[in-house]
Amino acid sequence: MSKKLHIKTYGCQMNVYDSERMADILAPLGYAAGDGPEDADMVILNTCHIREKAAEKVFSELGRLRKMKEARQQQGADMIIAVAGCVAQAEGAEIMRRAPYVDIVFGPQAYYRLPEMVARASRGAGRTLDTDFPTRSKFDFLPDEVAAPHEQRSSAFLTVQEGCDKFCAFCVVPYTRGAEYSRPAADILAEARRLTASGVREITLLGQNVNAYHGEGPDGRDWSLARLIRELAELPGLVRLRYTTSHPLEMSRDLIRAHADVPALMPYLHLPVQSGSDRILEAMNRRHKRDDYFRIVDLLREARPDIALSGDFIVGFPGEDDRDFADTMDLVRRVNYAQAYSFKFSPRPGTPAAAIAFAEVEERVKAERLAALQALLGEQQRAFNEACLGREMAVLLERRGRKPAQAVGRSPYMQAVHVDGAEERIGSVVMVRIVAVQPNSLSGRLLAEGTADAA
Ligand code: SAH
Ligand code: SF4
Ligand code: F3S
Repeated sequence: MSKKLHIKTYGCQMNVYDSERMADILAPLGYAAGDGPEDADMVILNTCHIREKAAEKVFSELGRLRKMKEARQQQGADMIIAVAGCVAQAEGAEIMRRAPYVDIVFGPQAYYRLPEMVARASRGAGRTLDTDFPTRSKFDFLPDEVAAPHEQRSSAFLTVQEGCDKFCAFCVVPYTRGAEYSRPAADILAEARRLTASGVREITLLGQNVNAYHGEGPDGRDWSLARLIRELAELPGLVRLRYTTSHPLEMSRDLIRAHADVPALMPYLHLPVQSGSDRILEAMNRRHKRDDYFRIVDLLREARPDIALSGDFIVGFPGEDDRDFADTMDLVRRVNYAQAYSFKFSPRPGTPAAAIAFAEVEERVKAERLAALQALLGEQQRAFNEACLGREMAVLLERRGRKPAQAVGRSPYMQAVHVDGAEERIGSVVMVRIVAVQPNSLSGRLLAEGTADAA
């Protein structure tokens, strides 16, 4: 009999990918996606530890799940509760202690052992905490075939690299995900072939430090991300490639060149800089200066003049003063982002920046800086979207929209585009003319057949 599985995913795209793989692993055990947590036989929270609020959310969600589990137990059923991901890795023992109704806690590198953990929990043989970093990569143990057919989709994530050796002073990722690891290129190509065979037209290559990818190639040599991209671009059926997240230090000439001469590589790049101040960049251990970032942006725009840039920013890093913040605002004005994320610094236990939290910027100042930065970034995003009005664009249609017969997809620049009367074209790339611009999306009108190009 089929059992119901509910996975709730927090955090980055790598967690989204991991959640899908967990579903793949559990499918042979009879678990299939249900509608929600209430009537699920198993619930997995795949968590994120990047900022303080993320971990708090997990504990409040666990409180809700406990009630659902008790209700099910009163009806003679049960619910296995599992906590996965980066909070599990960082605070596994704490979760076991604070939440005795949680059956399984496992880190991002241990989920391939889920079948054993679930078997133990189902037998009532005890709780499991597994936050080891195994010596072999989890990818060696994951099932090859996608056993649980994910809903038909045209765009998919593919993790090519995991972990991080950069140790930015504020960041938990090197501790929660472990050391940098690149998957062998042959495995990635095989996975990409399976995805395209199932109808996927766009693949986003994932890694905490994706552009540091250096996996073993089928020829026995190290392949760079650029090499991998060139190879993937040849796969029949694959029309779009993206990669995220990149570190400026690893933005090689070769990778920048790929933006000029690989048509499948979309003109959009998420390239976090965090701060525009050299002093703060150094304190953050980012290991580059603002001028290095400007140089990379110039080279990218030479290679692909229409490239849309996205970024991440942290305001209120310990010691950040008004001049530092003015440098960040200046960098944003000079770069001109199509889209960006910005956060208040959040001290994370165990990171070097948490130890200098005595220099932490006052909450009120952080809030003011974040508001000013977000206003500027919002203005830039609006201007970018408005400049698209009247333009022809290729849109990969991904899903149904709210209105009847409407479809929603993505432009080459990652904007969401609503297209009326295009439902039947979901899964393919269509040409549209942009006829309206909303704050967070565009509306396009389908153009006649035959005008669509490959992108
Ligand atoms: N690997 C990516 C980012 C991973 S985390 C990179 O190198 O840029 C995603 C974003 O969360 C970061 O870019 C940063 O802007 C933000 N972030 C990470 N740690 C943070 C902290 N302690 N406080 C506030 N924001 C943080
Ligand atoms: Fe974190 Fe820095 Fe690594 Fe990105 S590069 S994951 S911000 S340590
Ligand atoms: Fe969060 Fe872990 Fe990703 S901390 S951002 S889920 S790598």
